[in-house]
Amino acid sequence: MPDTQTDADAPLDPFADLDRRREEARAGGGEARIARQHEKGKLSARERLDILLDPGSFQELGQFVRHQAVGFGLERQRPYGDGVVTGWGSIDGRMVYVYSQDFTVFGGSLGLAHARKIVQLMELALENGAPVIGLNDSGGARIQEGVAALGGYADLFLQNTLASGVVPQISAILGPCAGGAVYSPAITDFTFMARGTSYMFVTGPNVVKTVTNEVVTQEELGGADTHASRSGVAHRAFANEAALLLGIRELMGYLPSNCEDPVPLAPEAAPESVDLDGIIPESPSTPYDIHDVIRGVVDAKSFFEIHPDFAENIVVGFARLGGRSVGIVANQPAVLAGVLDIDASVKAARFVRFCDAFNIPLVVFEDVPGFMPGTDQEWNGIIRHGAKLLYAFCEATVPKVTVITRKAYGGAYDVMNSKHIRADLNLAWPSAEIAVMGPKGAVEIIRKREIAAADDPAAAEEQFTEEYRERFANPYVAAERGYVDDVIRPSETRQRLISAMTMLQNKVQKLPRKKHGNLPL
Ligand code: HXC
Repeated sequence: MPDTQTDADAPLDPFADLDRRREEARAGGGEARIARQHEKGKLSARERLDILLDPGSFQELGQFVRHQAVGFGLERQRPYGDGVVTGWGSIDGRMVYVYSQDFTVFGGSLGLAHARKIVQLMELALENGAPVIGLNDSGGARIQEGVAALGGYADLFLQNTLASGVVPQISAILGPCAGGAVYSPAITDFTFMARGTSYMFVTGPNVVKTVTNEVVTQEELGGADTHASRSGVAHRAFANEAALLLGIRELMGYLPSNCEDPVPLAPEAAPESVDLDGIIPESPSTPYDIHDVIRGVVDAKSFFEIHPDFAENIVVGFARLGGRSVGIVANQPAVLAGVLDIDASVKAARFVRFCDAFNIPLVVFEDVPGFMPGTDQEWNGIIRHGAKLLYAFCEATVPKVTVITRKAYGGAYDVMNSKHIRADLNLAWPSAEIAVMGPKGAVEIIRKREIAAADDPAAAEEQFTEEYRERFANPYVAAERGYVDDVIRPSETRQRLISAMTMLQNKVQKLPRKKHGNLPL
């Protein structure tokens, strides 16, 4: 790290002095450390900003900030910037506030000055209503600064919480993020990781070995794929840092700048060609891929999936309908028959709440056989976790439209944005089956005695199943009651949804006055 005891012999030419200081600030921890970053497949803090932001748009804040800490030799090491580059810039011309931690300076660790820079940036972002993007590459609390560093983290967590629901907050994990370095991203809206170079854990493999005797690698414990597919802590894993940063740019295109602004508009693009009328298989137990339905309905190449590798039995993400951003929530019949389990419920609930907070209308594609049964799910709390999704849809006041493509069974029918919980419009395809449960399960209960007493129980069960199917396995019983507003051909879906979004664009719906609700956690 450059020695910074040069103030006393500063040159007389003030401009040359400024240039020298700027150069020193931009050098971070020096060439050797930057080279080490590159060797690991990582970029420097400033190289990352160059990819993330529109060329030439970055304006730095607090370039000459230094820590005031003493002890452990810190008074001899006072690098400009204190290990984090902060400022503002634009993405596709829209303002964003950004901080980029510099691992070459104290391992990107967070001391008080470092924390203050981020907090001040966030205060500006909040006052001016623009997203905050954090590029995290940090060894956590700066050990030499002790409690001041812990306090700095707490200041940051508080600011993240105050900003939640006001401006979008995006976290990129671009290095070994440990301790406090994981809790700030955890409060933000979206966390992206890069494969092979980014890690998140509360404590690293060494502590794990000491405490639990488990032997585990960094990658297994907290690598990108671990968090994007097992824990759900990360919303996406990317092949490398550049792909991740471009991914953030893409995501930003769907999001409004703050909770008051309208969603951004893009030019309308026709959807990909998909034979929607032929997509539902003849047998109700044959799967199909809900991604094909989404592709056939939304503007071409406009689906940005969130959590694509986690709880794949539900698909969520941002898309455009006629150029306007919407949030898609779709059961996935190709994975676990689209059943709602704990992970799927939590994944979708958080997404629904994000969309509601930022005025992004919700479009739900429903094909759900119910909640997942079994001891594993019950003992781990499917009741309270499933309730999160129910609560999120009930609470959401944005435009909400549901398309029932096939099964809408049981409690999951209610939960998946039914009219009963204030969906604005509920459309069904002719293949929709709306019932308390599937035909087989139903007749085994309500016709149990008759089947047992029959000369040919199998034939009797078959007959009862067919009767039940005729009665309930269609959308018309629900449509008669007005629980389904219309039955449409699948190929009409896009046009009907675009029209619905136009109809609902001025929707105003209020919740009863309260401090805040008590989301089941
Ligand atoms: C001060 C730190 C540091 C830290 C790293 N460095 N972490 N300095 N405080 N927390 C410095 C190193 O001294 C080194 O300085 C440089 O950063 C690079 O670190 P290396 O260890 O050489 O790099 P690497 O081998 O890549 O390992 C990175 C690492 C490791 C995995 C992050 O450094 C590490 O385990 N650090 C400590 C992690 C940790 O336990 N943090 C505290 C968490 S507690 P030089 O000068 O040699 O380049 C916490 C509390 C908040 O955060 C809780 C709130 C809820």
